[in-house]
Amino acid sequence: MNIRFYPTLEQCDKDALQNVVVVVIDVLRASSTIVAAIENGAERIIPIGDIETASRLVRPAERDRKLLAGERKCCSVPGFDLCNSPGEFSSDRVRGKTIVFTTTNGTRAIAAAAKAARILICAFTNVHAVATAIREEKEVVILCCGAEGSIAAEDLLCGGLLLASLGDAVEQESLTDAARLARTLVTEFGHDVEGFVRTCDHGRRLIALGFENDVVSCSRVGVSAIVPVGREGAIVA
Ligand code: MLT
Repeated sequence: MNIRFYPTLEQCDKDALQNVVVVVIDVLRASSTIVAAIENGAERIIPIGDIETASRLVRPAERDRKLLAGERKCCSVPGFDLCNSPGEFSSDRVRGKTIVFTTTNGTRAIAAAAKAARILICAFTNVHAVATAIREEKEVVILCCGAEGSIAAEDLLCGGLLLASLGDAVEQESLTDAARLARTLVTEFGHDVEGFVRTCDHGRRLIALGFENDVVSCSRVGVSAIVPVGREGAIVA
């Protein structure tokens, strides 16, 4: 398998996302939240770039079957039903529902990959399931979302774990410096993912804002067999 590994959305050539398999990683927290929502029975998640468009997509009369979810500056958006904590997307809140979802980085990256042959959503929680799902592919783009143009080290570690989980399936010559750094993070910190995530910029920011539970739940490795995939503008099981 040939790998193209991007450490941030901004470093990614958008044309490189067309007609290929794209794995989108935004560990804190969009990818982890999408995995939790689909695992808990959400029918589909519609990723949207901005708050105004998201709000227009959910009319008051539809509120029983469609939810508005997402964050700005990590916090709730006024008038939205849910923020971006995986724990909020419990079965009693989301089962059978369509979720219109807008986040600062994650949903922008998913939108950028709209012309991909396949989009898969990857977090620590489902990293092994994603590896199994793409093992036979010939060419894969791993897109770490980062944070508004900066590297998010937790995304790199997750990308490194995905590469490690793919093992011999990966063409080693295709690994760029960013991918090799991601592998090195696994060697150094793979034994204590939560400890590492707690020290990352975004992990510290979330803890300071009172979202420590999210940092803990997003750091659990391989606990889900769910692989959310993009289909016709939505993310489904
Ligand atoms: C994002 O998409 O930028 C994140 O999910 C931000 C957050 O932690 O809420």
